[in-house]
Amino acid sequence: MAKRKLREPLEDRKGNLYFDGISVKALAEKYDTPLYVLSEKRIRDNYNRLHTALLNNYKYVRIYYAAKANTNLTVLKILESEGAYLDTVSPGEVFMGLSCGFTPDRLMFTGTSVRNDELKMLADANITVNVDSISELERLLKFAVPPIVSVRVNPEVGAGHHSHCITAGPESKFGLWEDETIQAFAIAQRARVERFGIHMHIGSGILEVEPYVLAVEKLLKIAKRVHDEVGISFEFIDIGGGIGVPYQPEDQELDLAEFSSKVVTLFKNKVKDYGLGKPFLCVEPGRFLVCDASILLTTVNTVKTTPSRKFIGVDAGFNTLARPMMYGSYHPILVANKLDKADKETCDVVGPICESGDALAKERKLPKIEEGDLLAILNAGAYGFSMSSQYNSRPRAAEVMIRQGKDVLVRKREELGDLMASQRMLGEQ
Ligand code: LLP
Repeated sequence: MAKRKLREPLEDRKGNLYFDGISVKALAEKYDTPLYVLSEKRIRDNYNRLHTALLNNYKYVRIYYAAKANTNLTVLKILESEGAYLDTVSPGEVFMGLSCGFTPDRLMFTGTSVRNDELKMLADANITVNVDSISELERLLKFAVPPIVSVRVNPEVGAGHHSHCITAGPESKFGLWEDETIQAFAIAQRARVERFGIHMHIGSGILEVEPYVLAVEKLLKIAKRVHDEVGISFEFIDIGGGIGVPYQPEDQELDLAEFSSKVVTLFKNKVKDYGLGKPFLCVEPGRFLVCDASILLTTVNTVKTTPSRKFIGVDAGFNTLARPMMYGSYHPILVANKLDKADKETCDVVGPICESGDALAKERKLPKIEEGDLLAILNAGAYGFSMSSQYNSRPRAAEVMIRQGKDVLVRKREELGDLMASQRMLGEQ
């Protein structure tokens, strides 16, 4: 059989899967499964690849890591040490970001349906808010006149890998439309806010450059109107996150050089033509930085054949990785101890959760699988652990980071006691 094509940090050594230089079988034996394994090196490489590509076409660039993709504290610290900024959407993410060394001036908050006490906390902590409605702006201004205010715009162009993940366009709850955007900046200016930003985020899992081109054109037209009509300048213009990574074998990687030469150059030229000065170009990638830097290891418990299907029952379900169930997402799967065996059987890889939708893969061609085999679910680093739950009262998985050739436990496996930790039984104190 021809050797499987594996991307860094995956490696085939005599039919066994290695991740960032370490045998995944050894990791499963040491830490048990289900287990998320992360590569520090890959996170740093992803950050630097993107940073270099953007800087090639514009000098003033900031990368805000969208914390929601993976809030493991070590991941946050790694990106902090690279010089990243942080995009947050909840007080919890702000708290974790501050704890990992991001100073308030490196944090941004892009919430929706935001509570008053959250706005007060953000104002008190001096964190830049991308307001998502005029109501939010007016409520924020009641607590303080922030030194800088940014407005999230709906540029009327959205994109994404699933309808749930398209966050702009006619059906979207996010952002302000053009005329309201002008009003919002006028309100902030009347309140004596002195510095401004403007923001959009069109969706998640985008593998083409075109939607960014259209949305950036629209965002900059709106920015020019604000500049001309309200008479303010922008310290930053944030074009959001959403850069996709290939999941399906036929997916083409988004070409970063092309993205930069088309989108960043367009940004640079328009900003110049419109007389908008030299604002920072901000981007907010989540998935791109962490997705392919992690795999999920899961052990086969049960092999079961019915007259119509073959089921591979593993110890990770949608409690561990929700994406296949939630969006029908495809994650590549390798049988970690059988890389040299050909894909022979079509099966459903299913979890331990008592719902029929609990499948990590449907009709997937894999080598002949036996109980005890170890599967690696690839591209598990973004929206994997962060969307996991204790559903069916299953403690959440552990996380191990590979740092300079060594495995380090960075989140211990939850225990049965964690299932009850915040509950109080009636009648007991
Ligand atoms: N900025 C804002 C304001 C966002 O809402 C998001 C993601 C991002 C940046 C980062 O997007 P990314 O670069 O990761 O595509 N759970 C879904 C993805 C939801 C994304 C929500 N917002 C999934 O598993 O595909």
